[in-house]
Amino acid sequence: MTDAGGKMRLVCIPVNRDGASYAELISPGGASRLADEQFKLKEKQMSDSLYSRLGGYDGIAMFATTLVGKAQKDELLSRFWTDRGEDRIAREVQLLIDYLVKETGGQMYYTGRDMALSHQGMGITEADWTRFIEIVTSVAGELGVGPTEGGEVMAFLNGLKADIVTA
Ligand code: HEM
Repeated sequence: MTDAGGKMRLVCIPVNRDGASYAELISPGGASRLADEQFKLKEKQMSDSLYSRLGGYDGIAMFATTLVGKAQKDELLSRFWTDRGEDRIAREVQLLIDYLVKETGGQMYYTGRDMALSHQGMGITEADWTRFIEIVTSVAGELGVGPTEGGEVMAFLNGLKADIVTA
């Protein structure tokens, strides 16, 4: 842009992350309304989601922490966690939380590996899986997860079984 004297003049138009100018964002009926709608839609999807019905992040964190704690102490399953440092277990629990939050409809970017790769070579058997599901059921009961949500969790876990039970 040039000024009255014909010299070049820099004009700064603030631009948001998506490349829209703030002028556009605050214009009535413009992009701001669209962004609002999208935000409300995402909030609505989250509030109906299994994530939300399980108690959001805190509910899922409690569920995952209790589940892994019990599995580690279980007579049959404890062999999967022998000789592991506390930090390694804490990182695994955090990945489980992140995974469950993402898969149930929360806002999370899961940075772990997929289920087949994570459990490859561990030798998880049908009997291990049955015990794991028993623990899931008892933790869900302790935390007061309702029958509808419990059913949805079980259906979700069933879908993962073929990737995890390989022995
Ligand atoms: C009998 C059943 C299962 C056993 C014995 C088991 C055991 C384990 C163990 C020992 C690890 C740590 C691997 C490592 O440190 O490298 C792990 C990782 C993981 N497991 Fe499982 N698991 C079981 C089922 C499941 C299920 C049903 C889910 C999902 C709902 C799950 C999600 C994860 C995740 C997200 C990780 C971390 C992945 C990563 O390190 O990138 N596991 N599992």
